[in-house]
Amino acid sequence: MESLDEWVLPQIKHMAFTGIWRVTLMLSNYKDSVYLSTGEPDFDTPPNVIKAAEDAMRNGKTHYVDPSGLRELREEISKKLKRDNSIEVSPDQVIVTVGAEEALATVFQAFVNAGDKVTVFTPAYSLYLDLVQMRGARLNAVNLIEEGDRFRVDLEKVKETIGGSKVIIINNPSNPTGYVMSDEEIKAVVDLAAEHGTIIVSDEIYEKMNYSGKRLLSPASIAPENTITINGFSKAYAMTGWRIGYLAAPKEVMEALKIVHHTNVISA
Ligand SMILES: Cc1ncc(COP(=O)(O)O)c(C=O)c1O
Repeated sequence: MESLDEWVLPQIKHMAFTGIWRVTLMLSNYKDSVYLSTGEPDFDTPPNVIKAAEDAMRNGKTHYVDPSGLRELREEISKKLKRDNSIEVSPDQVIVTVGAEEALATVFQAFVNAGDKVTVFTPAYSLYLDLVQMRGARLNAVNLIEEGDRFRVDLEKVKETIGGSKVIIINNPSNPTGYVMSDEEIKAVVDLAAEHGTIIVSDEIYEKMNYSGKRLLSPASIAPENTITINGFSKAYAMTGWRIGYLAAPKEVMEALKIVHHTNVISA
């Protein structure tokens, strides 16, 4: 063996470390630059959140918790999903994760094997593509159609290419376009996913940054049986550095998701 580097898995060897940080670090020297790289809100974590965390830490709440996350938090998340998104899940169908990112990684580890096909709307959040690559999966990229200053989903292309996909990711509102899918688009994609036995991973992290005037339709409110919803606190509450997110999923897959999450991080 010449070097340990040879032992790195080929699918990881072919990856480059995220360009997002390379550019961010480079631009930190330019004091007048406008920060548009990572999805970082332009406000700070609200003081009541900081105060509650401070109090909790002083009161000894610094230990491992239930691997699925604090029960009280999961109860609140379950109420929130019902109130804001018409998603009916019990607290036992929620796992608190290390950011939405760990929720995505957990879902990929539980469901996506080498060679599996994953459908992603592009342009996309770059880490979806990295997750596909890391699993050795196959990417089916469906480009959004640009019409003037608007986008729309290429439903024809989804119809033609979704077959055989294990997973389709819906990121609504979308990073990086800010595009918000209409109810009709969501319903059409949900129908196609159901027809092809495809799991929908709905990343709703930008839910509160919807400037489209359209309401957001959560796929899990109409297709709870094959949708995993992912959300978190990073964007809505400017808590990117706290690393807290969550997933909500059908009962039958909770055990598998808990095993993966626990093996990776024990608890958030
Ligand atoms: C679309 C999308 N999903 C997930 C994440 C990860 O968020 P978190 O900080 O909750 O891990 C980001 C972060 O930029 C994102 O843009």
